[in-house]
Amino acid sequence: MSAPPRPATAHATPSAERAAAEFTRRFGRAPLGVWSAPGRVNLIGEHTDYNDGFALPFAIDRRTWAAVAPREDRRIRVASTFAGDKSVELPLGLLDPARLAGWSAYPLGVAWAFGRLAARGGVDVCFDSSVPVGAGLSSSAAIEASIAIALNELWGTNLDRSALARIGRLAENEAVGAPTGIMDQTAALQGTAGAAVLLDARTLHTRAVPLGFAAAGLEVLVIDTRTAHAHAGGGYGARRASCERAAQVLGVPALRDVALARLEAAEALLDDETFRRARHVLTENARVLAAVTLLDAHGDPARSGDALARDMRAIGALLDASHASLRDDFEVSTPELDLAAESARAAGALGARMTGGGFGGAVIALVPTARNAAIAEAVTRAFAEAGYPRPQLFTVTPSAGARRER
Ligand code: GLA
Repeated sequence: MSAPPRPATAHATPSAERAAAEFTRRFGRAPLGVWSAPGRVNLIGEHTDYNDGFALPFAIDRRTWAAVAPREDRRIRVASTFAGDKSVELPLGLLDPARLAGWSAYPLGVAWAFGRLAARGGVDVCFDSSVPVGAGLSSSAAIEASIAIALNELWGTNLDRSALARIGRLAENEAVGAPTGIMDQTAALQGTAGAAVLLDARTLHTRAVPLGFAAAGLEVLVIDTRTAHAHAGGGYGARRASCERAAQVLGVPALRDVALARLEAAEALLDDETFRRARHVLTENARVLAAVTLLDAHGDPARSGDALARDMRAIGALLDASHASLRDDFEVSTPELDLAAESARAAGALGARMTGGGFGGAVIALVPTARNAAIAEAVTRAFAEAGYPRPQLFTVTPSAGARRER
C-alpha cells in the first residue's frame, strides 16, 4: 500500500493543528474536535502516591493532542505521528486489556476502562505530541488524559476529572501492565497554569498550590538524561511490594498511616532494605507538606523579599533532600541522574532532584533565571567529562491541564 499523500500545509512542530491535519490525511475526513493534555514534572513527593501519601506535581507546557471524530460503527481506530503511518483498529466490544500492546495500549486501554456500557459509539483518533517519550515526563498519562476527556465528551459520560484520572490509572495498570499510582494522570487532568497540584492520594482530593517561581526570578530546568526508564520493568513493582510489606508488618493499611517515630521504633521488625524503603516514603510525605507550607506562605503579600528568598532556598533544600532519599533509601536513582542533580547544584541551582519513577529519565533543578544558561552549560560539560550521552535541557512552566482545543 502506498503512503497517504502529505498534507498541503506542513506543520513542522507538534500542535492541535498538526494533529487535525494528520487526522485528515490519514482518515480522509476532518476531525470533530481536538482535545489535549500535558506532560508533568513532579516537584516533590516521589513514590508516595501508591502509599496513599502526598505528591506535588505540575502540568508542563508540553502537550499531547488528540484529534477525534465519531464513526458510524462501533469500532475504535487510533493512529499517531509518533508511531509511523500504521493505525490500530478494533471493535469496541472486543477490547481486551490483556491483549493490548505497544503505544496503542494507552488509548485503547482508556476506551476499555470506560466500561462497555459507556462506549456509545466508534471513534477515530489521531495523536500528536510534544512530550518527550521515556524522559519520565508522563507522555503516557498525557495520551490517557487527552483521550479520556475526548471520550467523556463524545460519549456523554459526564465523569469528573478525578474519575477520569482513575480511568487512566486503570488503563495503565491493566492494559499497559505498569503497576503505577495515580499522580501522573492527576497532574495531566487537574493541572492549572502557574500552580502545582497537591494530591492526597488517599482521598484523591486535590488543591492548586501557586508556585510563584517566575515572580521570584526562578524557573524549573529539566535535564533529560536520555537514559532508559521502564515502569513495566521490575524495579518499580519491587519498590511497591516493599512498601506494601512494610505496611503489612506494621499493621496499617498503607505507609501513609505510620509516623516516623513509630517506624523507627519498629526497625527490628523489618529487614534493612524494607526499613529504608519505608523511611523514604515517610520522610518524602513530610517534605511535600513542608514545601506546601513554604509555597502557601509565599502567596502572602505581607511577606518580605528576604523571607521569599529564604523560602525558595528552603524549597531547594527539600528538593536536595528528596533526591538523597531516593538515591540512598529508595535506590531508584542512577549515576546519570545523580550527576545531573549534583552538577546543577554546584553551578548555582537552589536544589535539584530526579523526577518521576527513576531508573533513568530526568532531573528537575530550581534555577535563578539569570543563571539558567550557565547552569545548563555546566551540566552539559559534566556529562561530556563523564562520558555520558549529551543530556537534553529545557525549561518548563506550570501549565493548564487537559482541555478541548477546538
Ligand atoms: C511513576 C508513576 C507514578 C508515581 C511515580 C513515582 O511516574 O506513574 O504513579 O508512582 O512514578 O512517584
